[in-house]
Parts: sequence; C-alpha cells; structure tokens
Amino acid sequence: MQKLIQWIDERLPIVEAYEKHMSKYYAPKNFNMWYFFGSLAMLVLVNQLVTGIWLTMSYNPSAEGAFASIEYIMRDVEWGWLLRYLHSTGASAFFIVVYLHMFRGIMYGSYQKPRELIWLFGMLIYLVLMAEAFMGYLLPWGQMSYWGAQVIVNLFGAIPVIGDDLSLWIRGDYLVSGITLNRFFALHVVALPIVLLGLVVLHLLALHEVGSNNPDGVDIKKHKDENGVPKDGIPFHPYYTVHDLVGVAVFLFVFCIVVFYFPEFGGLFIEKPNFEPANSLKTPEHIAPVWYFTPFYAMLRAVTVDLFGLSAKFWGVVVMGAAIAILFVLPWLDRSPVRSIRYKGWMSKVALVILVVSFVILGYLGVVPSTPGRTAVAQILTVLYFLYFLLMPFYTRMEKTKPVPERVTG
Ligand code: HEM
Repeated sequence: MQKLIQWIDERLPIVEAYEKHMSKYYAPKNFNMWYFFGSLAMLVLVNQLVTGIWLTMSYNPSAEGAFASIEYIMRDVEWGWLLRYLHSTGASAFFIVVYLHMFRGIMYGSYQKPRELIWLFGMLIYLVLMAEAFMGYLLPWGQMSYWGAQVIVNLFGAIPVIGDDLSLWIRGDYLVSGITLNRFFALHVVALPIVLLGLVVLHLLALHEVGSNNPDGVDIKKHKDENGVPKDGIPFHPYYTVHDLVGVAVFLFVFCIVVFYFPEFGGLFIEKPNFEPANSLKTPEHIAPVWYFTPFYAMLRAVTVDLFGLSAKFWGVVVMGAAIAILFVLPWLDRSPVRSIRYKGWMSKVALVILVVSFVILGYLGVVPSTPGRTAVAQILTVLYFLYFLLMPFYTRMEKTKPVPERVTG
C-alpha cells in the first residue's frame, strides 16, 4: 500500500493535496452547528447526482412519454419510487441547507474581506441551483411543471424590445412544448450539473486559500505556535470529519422521515396539480412556483404599478432580479469593523431579524393566492428586505460595536 501511494505520489501529489485540504487544514476550533451546512450541501449534491443518473435511466424526455415514464418509475421500476422521492425531496433539502448556509455566512460576516470570492462563488452556485431546480421541475410534465415554466419563461417577455424574442428563444417554440422539455432535460442532466460541480470546487479552493471564518469572526492566523500552526486551529481531519458526521446523522434521520412518510410534504415539495399530466388548454386555478422560489415570486407580484411607460410586470421582474443581485454585493455593503453578529451593534441585530422575518413571510405569501391585503403586506416586506442591504453601509458604520476578543471564545 505504502509503495503504491508513493508510486502515485511521484506522479500526482495526492499526499500533498490530502495534507493541504484535510490533515493539515487548520480550521477554527469553535465551529458550531451552523458549520454543518457546507458539508451537508455537498452530501445533498451527491445524492442529487447519483439518484438523478439512475432516474435518467428510466425517464423519457418527450412530451408524449415524460409523465407516463414518471408513473412507470414510481410503480414498475425496482426501487424507482425511492429514487424519485430521494431526488424530489433532495431538491427541497438542497435549498433548506443552502439557505441556512447563506444565513450563517450573513450572521458571522463570512463574506467580509478576505472571503469575498468564497461568497461570490456561493452566489453563482445559488443562481445555477435555481436554474437547475427550475428546469428539473418541468421534467415530470405535470400541470404545475408546465404552467410554472410557462409563467416564468413569459416573464422574460416583459423586458422591452427583446422580451418576446428572448422568451421564444428560451422555449424554442411559441408555447412550452416537447422542444422546451428536451432542452431543459439536456441542461438539467448535463450542462448545469457540470457548472455546479466546477463552482463548488472553486468555492472550496477559495475557502482553503484564506481559511474558514468562525462564530467569533476572529482571525486565527494572528496567533500561531512555533510550527506555524494557528493556536486556535485544529486539523480538519479527523476532528471536523467526525464532527460533520454528527450533522450527517441528524440530517439523514430527518431526511429519511420526509422521504418515507411525507414525500409530497403537504403539496410543498411535490405540488398537487403535478399529479395531472400537462395540458396546454387547461390553466390550473392557482399557479405558484415551488416554495424555495416563493419569496422572490411574492416580490414580483408585489409590484402592481406601471411606471415610465413600462409595465408592472417588467418592474416586478426588475425587483425580483435586484433582490438576488444585491446579495452579490453584500461584501461591499458591510462597513462594520467587526465580522460576527456577536460583536456588532443592536442595529445590525434588529436588521438581521427583520431580513429573516420578511424573507420567510414573503415565502409564505408567494405560496398562497394573492389578495389586496396580502399584496400590501408583500409590498412592505419587499421594502424591508431591500432596506437591510441599502442601509447597511450606514448602520454598520454608525453603530457601536463590542470589542472583539484576541482569541476565539468557547
Ligand atoms: C452546492 C452548494 C454549496 C456547497 C456544496 C457549499 C460548500 C461549502 C463548504 C463545504 C464550506 C465549508 C464548511 C462550512 O463553512 O460550512 C463552505 C463555506 C462557505 N460557503 Fe458554501 N457551499 C454551497 C453554497 C454556498 C452559497 C449559496 C453561499 C452564499 C451565497 C455560500 C457561502 C459560503 C461562505 C461565505 C463560506 C465560508 C464560511 C465561513 O468560513 O464562515 N456557499 N461552503
């Protein structure tokens, strides 16, 4: 074994890579449960890739055969129902894990210098993940797949001048059809997973270049021992590999309960109209995207006025796009001298609570049909969401922060 490793190592530096990224990657010793979600995101990614490959073996990407092939997978393919539920539940789990992972980054200021690139790669991952989920949702070719895609692709039509041509180009047809299904399938199973994997590698390389942040937001590289090892750091392997296994066990426990007992999750993970085959002549009564898109969908619907000769729909698309775009520049909006929320002032704390509450309620409002009252609430929450970011340069500079300890605490 030793000889084999040496033989490979002389040709490919596997030992060096193992040491750099595992046994001699010193991570702060004060990680808490918020640090589980990065490794859990990797676990869910692997689950999606593996179950996705096996689903593809029995799935038929055509308007005539797609819906029936899903039923075939559910009823006739050995363990097909499990593959499908692992994949559909995995999609929602992916977003739960990624949202918690992003929240951790915001809470501990992990996007701040020198970790801006980690954040930017993370945001690109998030964008690609949304495209991946959106295209995957068309594949079962149910009513919600069909009409959801129709609504979202039509949004591009609101863009002045090029809008109509653009949505035609995305669909490849005058309405969502088998042609659209074929291209979404190609992107969903080949193109986007490759991009996603590449981005995750870049995300982690950027992380390992500067090292992880921690709940205190202190720089552990400031205090090193005589061997150059950070005094507050512990080797990633074995300490955090074992630590992460605890997160994996808890996650799998909850995940399996959902997969085996509540795979539709009350219509949130697999929406009810999707048990009916797509019908271009019958619009479902209430079209809503899957829950992980609904905060942005609620913002889109919150815009109800035409402005400067452009439609409310256009401005809705602008607001929705801006809500995601603004996250990209977060590292440059935060002017606080400290990273972690633990040492920021009360304004940052209140702002963060408002952000989370607004986002969650917007998510709820995006699931339910709109009424004038709900639209008014969505309008207020949309403004609050944006204020978190737009006012950040001011409140992070004005507020009084607490002194940050030299070394990590507990
Ligand atoms: C497929 C999706 C993703 C995977 C597999 C992934 C993976 C990871 C892993 C393994 C870590 C190190 C462990 C940890 O800190 O939890 C990490 C750190 C980080 N990720 Fe992600 N990530 C993903 C998406 C995102 C997204 C969407 C963002 C934000 C927009 C993001 C921002 C960050 C940041 C800022 C860190 C550094 C955290 C710190 O050091 O405190 N990641 N990621």
